[in-house]
Amino acid sequence: MPTAPIPSWLTAVVATTAAVAACHRERPPNDAARAPTAPAVAIARDTPLPHLARQLLAPRMRRHAIEIEALQAAVLSVDRVRVVDAARAILAEPRLARPSTSAGETLNDALPETFFTYQDDLVAATRAIAAAAADGDDAAMARAYGDLNAACVGCHAVYRDLPGEPSAP
Ligand code: HEC
Repeated sequence: MPTAPIPSWLTAVVATTAAVAACHRERPPNDAARAPTAPAVAIARDTPLPHLARQLLAPRMRRHAIEIEALQAAVLSVDRVRVVDAARAILAEPRLARPSTSAGETLNDALPETFFTYQDDLVAATRAIAAAAADGDDAAMARAYGDLNAACVGCHAVYRDLPGEPSAP
């Protein structure tokens, strides 16, 4: 009994399915299987920052809010040129320096190490976003954008006044 010829639509379907499967296989295995990552730093409330430090931070934080919106818009539209510009704006914000003397007399001496760790995380993630965007590595850009948000939220979870909590002095 002669076998029926394979209809051309079926050949097309098989070819498309194979192409889609190949496409899936090309993804790096650890990318597809990545589990949600735990926060890089364990979050626990710390003693409130000195009032003066908070006053110094407030205006730059308001600028951060504007800057991260611009960055998010650029990242979401995978506009690598704007991503680099927006990341540079965040990096241009003045940062608080770690205490450089052990005399314990400066405002910075009153700031805990955890604060500076979050500040370092913010800088490292922002630099990574700019580098990834400049290299056209969109997956790395997406991950670094997540890391940046984790630095903002992490520091706030430790040091900002939280809803329902009495406000820090
Ligand atoms: C190293 C710690 C730290 C990091 C990192 C950080 N913040 Fe903040 N942020 C603070 C603290 C502390 C306050 C509270 C300041 C105060 O008491 O007024 C604050 C307050 C704010 C506020 C409220 C400002 C206001 O008007 O009261 C905004 C908005 C803000 N941050 C945005 C951001 C964004 C966006 C990022 C990330 C790009 C970020 N912050 C990263 C510590 C941080």
